[in-house]
Amino acid sequence: MTAAPALRDDALAGLLGRRSVSPKRLVAPGPDAAALEAMLQAALRAPDHGGLRPWRVIEFPAALRPALADAFEQEKRRRDPMAPAEDLRRAREHAILPPVLLGFVVAPQPRSAVPVREQWLGAGAALGNLLNAAHQLGFGAIVLSGERCHDPVLLRTLGLRHHEYLAGFVSLGTVREAPPPARPASPRSVWSCWSPATAAER
Ligand SMILES: Cc1cc2nc3c(=O)[nH]c(=O)nc-3n(C[C@H](O)[C@H](O)[C@H](O)COP(=O)(O)O)c2cc1C
Repeated sequence: MTAAPALRDDALAGLLGRRSVSPKRLVAPGPDAAALEAMLQAALRAPDHGGLRPWRVIEFPAALRPALADAFEQEKRRRDPMAPAEDLRRAREHAILPPVLLGFVVAPQPRSAVPVREQWLGAGAALGNLLNAAHQLGFGAIVLSGERCHDPVLLRTLGLRHHEYLAGFVSLGTVREAPPPARPASPRSVWSCWSPATAAER
């Protein structure tokens, strides 16, 4: 029998130290092409039933952010025709502020033998790996979705196909100001041991 691996104190330090970092706390430089490629390699190493890669990312280059800001502002106006100028400014800011901005698209294959819910889980695992890789490379990152991710006009503008979902936008950059510490969460809050009696109690 092989011995269980000894727990090294530092083995999970990277994973345990990850925090989401608001775009307001991020500054340039964001990850360059090599760093983005490394992060995507990590995302592609996530568990993926059937190897379907049911996700993709869209990079929004800096030169096209004003056009993205126009699209965000128009979406806000569609949703709220009376939106005050401050809300429109904030909608534009979401497109402009992050040093690097990605769209994370879930693209489940409905006709696959792999259940769609497992494809969503695989996409989520990839997103988690992407965020952890950004953190390990020294960048701050956060995923933000919001109502705009459901707007059909915006989705068409961004090039989503009818079977695709915009899970959110990933902001990336150098951390200017550390986020507040994470709220402590106990592993015991998500961990139970099965027995017929405990199952019946739930
Ligand atoms: C797909 C996805 C979309 C999210 N969208 C939002 C959002 O629109 N607004 C928000 O405040 N947090 C959103 N979050 C949560 C944040 O990204 C972040 O996880 C949360 O603030 C907790 O911070 P932590 O990751 O440091 O624990 C989203 C998370 C995921 C996975």
